[in-house]
Amino acid sequence: MLDTVSAKTPARFITFEGGEGVGKSTQVKRLLGALEQRGISAVRTREPGGTPKAEAVRAFILQGRSESWGPGGEAVLFAAARLDHVNQLIGPSLDAGRWVVSDRFHDSTRAYQGLTGGVDDKLIRGLETLALNGRQPDLTIILDMDPEVAFRRVEERELEGALQQTGDRFEKEDLVWHKRLRDAFLEIASNNAQRCVVIPAGQSEDSLEQEIWDTLTRRFPELQDGPAA
Ligand code: TYD
Repeated sequence: MLDTVSAKTPARFITFEGGEGVGKSTQVKRLLGALEQRGISAVRTREPGGTPKAEAVRAFILQGRSESWGPGGEAVLFAAARLDHVNQLIGPSLDAGRWVVSDRFHDSTRAYQGLTGGVDDKLIRGLETLALNGRQPDLTIILDMDPEVAFRRVEERELEGALQQTGDRFEKEDLVWHKRLRDAFLEIASNNAQRCVVIPAGQSEDSLEQEIWDTLTRRFPELQDGPAA
């Protein structure tokens, strides 16, 4: 069965998106585990980051060093990091038959710098053309949660010590801003209904994992367990 899956299907590119504290990283890890259990070779990655150069850009941005450049300048930085990520990791992995699961990708630039940050859509699109180099996610899972609930969860996890108190600057924005961000992701989803699926993230980690897996098997029926050909 395992060989059958990899023989029948091209490698897929899956991205996870959503606001802060919605549980993306946990679900990305769980999905990798589920794919590997089925013998599917997959790469877990993230944005900003994923390659040494993109990780350097990540550190620069998240430490707040580019804040004074504004959302436009930062959109350019995220795109430059993405260009390296696509050309050095995502593209070669897919070409080698490995699935790629990324914790955030270009929709984050659309949502944070574009729809929420006010950067012109034409600029955002131009940067995408440059950075994506013809690659597009096959499926984008948008984890959706009321920001007030997400905030409480982040606070609880910080208190439990499960989450490092980084206080990186994108998490310091206020609640109104986070509500706008949530709407931005929902708008992206409705404008890209073929590619994006919105999943309520307030449920338990186990049921969320199951819903994500069900979404994948509906989208990629070759994943369903079946008799070997
Ligand atoms: P990270 O610690 O990875 O946050 P999260 O766990 O929420 O993904 O930090 C990444 C931050 O960078 C996050 O606040 C979202 C932001 N970001 C953008 O503003 N634009 C982008 O294009 C990307 C990829 C991330």
